[in-house]
Amino acid sequence: MMGKMSASLLQWVDERLPIVSFWNDHMARYYAPKNFNFLYFFGSLALLMLVNQIVTGIFLTMHYKPDAAMAFDSVEYIMRDVSWGWLIRYMHSTGASAFFIVIYLHMFRALFYGSFKSPRELVWLFGMVIFVMLMAEAFMGYLLPWGQMSYWGAQVIISLFGAVPVVGEDLALWLRGDFVVSDATLNRFFAFHVIAIPLALLGLVVLHLAALHTTGSNNPDGVEIKKNLDDNGIPKDGIPLHPYYTVKDLFAVSVFLLIFAAVVFYMPEFGGYFLESPNFDPANPIKTPEHIAPVWYFTPFYSILRAVPDKLGGVIAMAAAVGILFAMPWIDRCPVKSIRYRSRIFKLLLLLFVISFLGLGVLGTLSVSPVNALLARIFTAVYFGFFVFLMLFSGREKTLALPDRLREPIIPLAQREGLHWHWVRTGLAWLAATQFWRKLSSYYEPVDKSIKKTCGKYCD
Ligand code: HEM
Repeated sequence: MMGKMSASLLQWVDERLPIVSFWNDHMARYYAPKNFNFLYFFGSLALLMLVNQIVTGIFLTMHYKPDAAMAFDSVEYIMRDVSWGWLIRYMHSTGASAFFIVIYLHMFRALFYGSFKSPRELVWLFGMVIFVMLMAEAFMGYLLPWGQMSYWGAQVIISLFGAVPVVGEDLALWLRGDFVVSDATLNRFFAFHVIAIPLALLGLVVLHLAALHTTGSNNPDGVEIKKNLDDNGIPKDGIPLHPYYTVKDLFAVSVFLLIFAAVVFYMPEFGGYFLESPNFDPANPIKTPEHIAPVWYFTPFYSILRAVPDKLGGVIAMAAAVGILFAMPWIDRCPVKSIRYRSRIFKLLLLLFVISFLGLGVLGTLSVSPVNALLARIFTAVYFGFFVFLMLFSGREKTLALPDRLREPIIPLAQREGLHWHWVRTGLAWLAATQFWRKLSSYYEPVDKSIKKTCGKYCD
């Protein structure tokens, strides 16, 4: 009876708003390649983080005061007096860093498997706009607690616009709304952070996913599944997104949330990387902190800025480091997508690129010294060198022959994922079977015994 009623209610709604066909087109009958690996988790995790930021942000806004005289204290009030305020704030601050970790891995996956190439250029371009927006969102959010680092970080970054020839100073003044970072700046950053950019981000994510569902997903083999259809027009190497990948992603979400919760509860400052210590002091316009550094997710680009001795040159190099990624679909002209079938040279180039990006990230957290400056210049050269080499040689790269169909799961696991994973798994199995592991897992036993000892005869 109930089943019949809900079916007819669903039909009634569906005749007016096609939710069933939407669900089928994008979930239950949307066919994704059957060989997704763990690198394909990060899109869903990015969605999760977006929702986390929006929901916790709404609750923070209920007690936060966007006023230079009250902002810092209102955050302290949230942390100390608002029920569960500390949790909401730590979920938001940890969420910002987690969002960037997830996004960097998501982008790295696209580089690894050539997912930015035809026909997915728009998916990549929308992704890049999201990335720039996300940086703006994080930058503006960072001013809101009105701590020392919030204040001076904003001061440094906005003054960079002053380097633009002719209009620079006016531009910086226009962005700040004052001659220095002030209440006017805080108010406009608040407006952008809580409504304008989140709205734009939501719209962009819809476009990103709409473009993806038009072309269909790429996969670790980089072979288009739509080229091999069965008699019903369904990709032979595809499986429905729901339930197969919804369940797989739920597993990833569970593991991710365990790690996320551990950070939120036990190390929300994360050694000063997620919440920087100078930001526990209220903003003071007449006292500059000893060492001004942006949050870790900006440091690779900040390093590039500092690596160039000229201010305008540095700003151009920093903007170019982000801007050049937009052109990736046209820079890399190799028709083969996945790294699995690409040349050793490409693998080496990508490795150097990743090392330089991480190296720049680390250097950006340190203060300038002659050695650090030299290293930053070398890494900057390697960073841009990656694109130059790719432009020059990717068109005539020697690649391996592509299979017609997805190779998996016919190929044994060790070969499919690379021997290193095989050794990681073997190592873990060995660990689990050894005395060392047993010792580690029986760690709590002596504690129980000691309890018994102290309670003596009363225990029984
Ligand atoms: C709010 C941020 C973002 C969200 C919520 C998001 C979400 C997603 C989701 C759910 C997928 C499908 C699942 C997957 O392939 O992992 C996807 C695919 C993809 N995303 Fe994103 N994304 C975001 C940002 C970005 C950024 C910054 C880039 C790169 C600049 C990017 C590039 C791609 C590409 C190329 C694909 C297709 C991958 C493939 O088919 O192999 N995304 N995204």
